[in-house]
Amino acid sequence: MDKPKYYLTTPIYYANSRPHVGSAYTTIVCDVIARYKRMCGYDVAYLTGTDEHGVNIERAAEKLGITPQELVDRNQQIFRDLWKLLGIEYTDFIRTTSREHARAVQALVRRTLERTPQAIEKRKYEGRYCIYDNLYVSDSPEPANCPICGRPAELISEENYFFKLSNYQERLLDLYHKQPDFVQPDFRFNEVKSFVEAGLKDVSISRKSIKWGIPWPGDPEHVFYVWYDALTSYMSGIGYENEDFARQARFERFWPADVHMIGKEIIRFHAVYWPAFLMAAELPLPERIHAHGWLLFEQEKMSKSKGNVAYPEPIVKVLGNDALRYYLLRETVFGQDGNFSRDSLITRYNADLANGLGNLSSRILAMIERYFGGVIPAASDNVTGAETSIRLIAEAAVTKSADFMEVFDFSWVLDSIWFLVASVDRYLGEKQPWKLAESPHGRVELGDVLYTAAEALRIITVLSHPVIPDASQRIWTQLGQSSELCEQNPRQIVWGALRGGAKIVRAEAVFPRVDKKEAMERIEAMEQEIRGEGSGKAAGAASGAGAAATVPAGGAASTGSGAGAATAMPDGAAKIGIEDFAKVELRVGQVKSAEKVAGADKLLKLMVDIGEEVRQIVAGIAIAYQPEELVGRKVVIVANLAPRKLRGVESNGMIVAASTAEGKPVLCTFAEEVPVGAKLK
Ligand code: MSP
Repeated sequence: MDKPKYYLTTPIYYANSRPHVGSAYTTIVCDVIARYKRMCGYDVAYLTGTDEHGVNIERAAEKLGITPQELVDRNQQIFRDLWKLLGIEYTDFIRTTSREHARAVQALVRRTLERTPQAIEKRKYEGRYCIYDNLYVSDSPEPANCPICGRPAELISEENYFFKLSNYQERLLDLYHKQPDFVQPDFRFNEVKSFVEAGLKDVSISRKSIKWGIPWPGDPEHVFYVWYDALTSYMSGIGYENEDFARQARFERFWPADVHMIGKEIIRFHAVYWPAFLMAAELPLPERIHAHGWLLFEQEKMSKSKGNVAYPEPIVKVLGNDALRYYLLRETVFGQDGNFSRDSLITRYNADLANGLGNLSSRILAMIERYFGGVIPAASDNVTGAETSIRLIAEAAVTKSADFMEVFDFSWVLDSIWFLVASVDRYLGEKQPWKLAESPHGRVELGDVLYTAAEALRIITVLSHPVIPDASQRIWTQLGQSSELCEQNPRQIVWGALRGGAKIVRAEAVFPRVDKKEAMERIEAMEQEIRGEGSGKAAGAASGAGAAATVPAGGAASTGSGAGAATAMPDGAAKIGIEDFAKVELRVGQVKSAEKVAGADKLLKLMVDIGEEVRQIVAGIAIAYQPEELVGRKVVIVANLAPRKLRGVESNGMIVAASTAEGKPVLCTFAEEVPVGAKLK
């Protein structure tokens, strides 16, 4: 059977500046929806892209002495690199300077002129225009400030093509009436309705004074107004009027969009102009416009010109991609404005991810390993009330999270899943499996407890996958699951599908706890570098248009620290930054037991206590140390190395030792007393 289609878009981002956490918000949200819909069996098209025309791009390029094309070529790559870093699985990316897009824009206006010639008329325009927000601020030459950014708008006087929006008031109100969820949330829809009810003015959709744009068909002195150009990307991005037949077929399949996800400040363009443009062209209208709130930083909208921005790259480097995704969706009520703070980000990380899900999964896996040799026990028929109650909470999490997901209530989605996390944690605390393990009669109950916990963990993993794709995938693998996690349908989860007998794969903790102060300092230091303050070379990120121009293409992802790091590269080939060193987790461990590895002269298998857990590590130190002399000794271990097998024995970490000229290993020691688990930095 054919999969149903689902077409979702982000706005296309202005390619004049570097993306910040606020810009990443829309894209992350859409990625979560896209992943969720795919898991539910939809054929998903997810479009994003870059908005590359307009006077601000033209001016920024001029200032830098490069062409606008060079500027946008560079900057669009920064967006793509960031989306990659954030695990964004878009299917289509549109650039408004591409040939396919220009063709689509011209085709749309031609079609409009054919179908509804009276919708467009050429006449003189005089008014105020904001070059930063590409907004016609007023239709009078009187001075006026932009309602979005507050800056004085520029005087414009020229002959333009106008779209007769004033003719569409009734049809728009009729649309809003017939499609009561055309705009979400409702309170935003009410604002849109009031705006339209108050009467509509025609909008100018071409510009004569600007060169950097798509030429008007048959009248190349005019270029398209950036919003007409940009909105059409939703169609050109999936093949509207494409020369390639396969791309056109994609448009036929996916248009109209199921959801245009946008920030609240651009709602008028999407909920008023865009449907009117499409009506005039006699094309199907999008199903829904969903407007989210702003992510505020110290109670103000993030903006480079105000210097109050946070960048995603440092957060990803210090806490991982999932941490940012989880935080943005959990912390704000979707639709409302939310506040971003590094402090609350790290607090959430430690509380919900490290101490919450991360700790829970480590505990469950460690106990399965310890008490059942790493094989998930099968459940008996003898389950008690406590097991039943976990099952019921898990089933409620499945239903509730699906219902909340349908209405994009992400904080509640996560709340229902994390209620299950906390319940399983409490359940383990009450059942005390370690005590059951000591009792000769506790074996069956121990199996039931660990099965119940592991099954709940499997369900948590499926439900949380769209939000924390990397960590959930790792837990899924650790649970010994062989099927594809992204193919599990979160709406069709059945309790008990976890197979007893599956072999778990233990690995490093998915969310290692971080020290708040240290994490803050690292994030802030990297942000400083991005802003260019630390490198002596202005990144320009704090100055609006053209900000990203001094950031080398790919700087964000390839060096991880943006302009500063990228410009510091020439003499840095052999050196690493502190953030690279910080990637290596060095800890004090204590050897609990040691034995030779059969058939390997140089290898010892050690069990090392590192505070949170006891690790099995295989070390090539047998030529210098006898197993007995190592027991009780404190050593330094690399705690976050991916596990690997040495002579068939799994090693979860590495012991640090010096190597003498003769190749003899000498273990690292401490002159003073150090606690087990302490971090080296
Ligand atoms: N180019 C236009 C959109 C054209 S769509 C046909 C545009 N670009 S933008 O780069 O300024 O914004 C892109 C998206 O990022 C918008 O949805 C905007 O709301 C969002 N955000 C930018 N800063 C934001 C915050 N601080 N908080 C939340 N979202 C924000 O508008």
